Amino acid sequence: MITRIPSMPADARLGVPGPAAGPPASTGSLASTGPPGDSTRPSEDSTGPPEPDLSFHGDAELAEGLIDLAVNVRPGTPPPWLLDRILVAAGDLAAYPDPRAATEAAARRHARPPAEVLVTAGAAEAFTLIARAFRPRHAVIVHPQFTEPEAALRAAGHPVHRVTLGGEFTLDPGAVPRDADLIVVGNPTNPTSVLHPAAAIRALARPGRLLVVDEAFADCVPGEPESLAGARDVPGLIVVRSLTKTWGLAGLRAGYLLASPPHVRALGRPRPPWAVSGPALAAVVACCAPAATAEAAAWAADMDAERTWLGQSLSQVPGVTVTPNARAPFLLLKVCAHRSVPHQLTPTDPIDPITNHTGPTNPTNPISLNDPTDPTSLSGPTSRSVRERLRAAGFAVRRGDTFPGLGPDWIRIAVRDRATNVRFVAALTTVLEAR
Ligand SMILES: Cc1ncc(COP(=O)(O)O)c(C=O)c1O
Repeated sequence: MITRIPSMPADARLGVPGPAAGPPASTGSLASTGPPGDSTRPSEDSTGPPEPDLSFHGDAELAEGLIDLAVNVRPGTPPPWLLDRILVAAGDLAAYPDPRAATEAAARRHARPPAEVLVTAGAAEAFTLIARAFRPRHAVIVHPQFTEPEAALRAAGHPVHRVTLGGEFTLDPGAVPRDADLIVVGNPTNPTSVLHPAAAIRALARPGRLLVVDEAFADCVPGEPESLAGARDVPGLIVVRSLTKTWGLAGLRAGYLLASPPHVRALGRPRPPWAVSGPALAAVVACCAPAATAEAAAWAADMDAERTWLGQSLSQVPGVTVTPNARAPFLLLKVCAHRSVPHQLTPTDPIDPITNHTGPTNPTNPISLNDPTDPTSLSGPTSRSVRERLRAAGFAVRRGDTFPGLGPDWIRIAVRDRATNVRFVAALTTVLEAR
């Protein structure tokens, strides 16, 4: 059952903070099912499989002795020069942290005024602040994507509507309900690795709507061609950036968001003072400097080439489908434990977010992606055990079934160095041959 939040402070209404914002979006109650053929449906009315565990994260896959392909933090980070800067800042722990230098550094990095930046304790804090600062009546999460934005909105008591992309996970702005007043989309998206065109994301913006773009992995794409971090002309845009992946600062918590000054002020209001520590602020200054962005860009170019090699190698493995158009430092794989030929993704068929398969809204679709009763299904105990057998072979991979829109046949793997990637391709080949 979805509840509507009856009232909100005027300055917390979605339409008020942004200069370009208009009246709040329609307050019509959310339908429990979408129109025929709509790939969206709220999850609360599910009579199907259990809800995915939104609080599950890749680090839960790790164990002593396993090669980590489950967590997307760049290996070998933080680099020594960054660690030095953090340790120097730690020498000043007696002082209350002052965010001004970090705010200015992030602003310079994206050619925006400091009033359009809020430094945060990682991207995760930004999602919580968004959920606390605003009261959306019709929040939409474009799935599959990182689950914390939805978890934060739900924890704050907001109704959440899922739009689940199917096929090759390409963003279709037309799939988003017109009266959505808050949308969250990842770019590039975790776990699909798909980079959406900036134009498709811009097409989602309109007065009275907040458009949250999770760019936690944007600096992993050489040149950041589709980033909106520097875009100041998009109404309601909030871009969330993380420094924890590329720079190995997951334990420190460092990131920032970029938005219009009224939105930045509204987002800063619900947080406690001194929310970001002095060493984390020093890390933001260091990571936003031109030398650091050049280092990240060089790594991104190398990683891009390695991911291309890995994707091509894995697509030769019988039973593996590599999600195409990957641009992030990870790949989403569909592993087929029942068949010896690679499964083709169907670009046009959305996956039902409740049943996790493409019927009955697409009765002509020949493939039921996740239906264990279907003889052509790819799911079932054998496919689930692919991940377990990979663990036995020494690799921790990220399960896919905790992402809304995916099922047990999906795994996500981080791109590592060539030697590790070669070993993984061999291990997965062996595991699937042993079916
Ligand atoms: C897409 C995406 N966004 C945001 C985050 C959270 O980043 P942070 O560590 O900066 O909170 C993650 C972490 O896994 C992520 O995958």
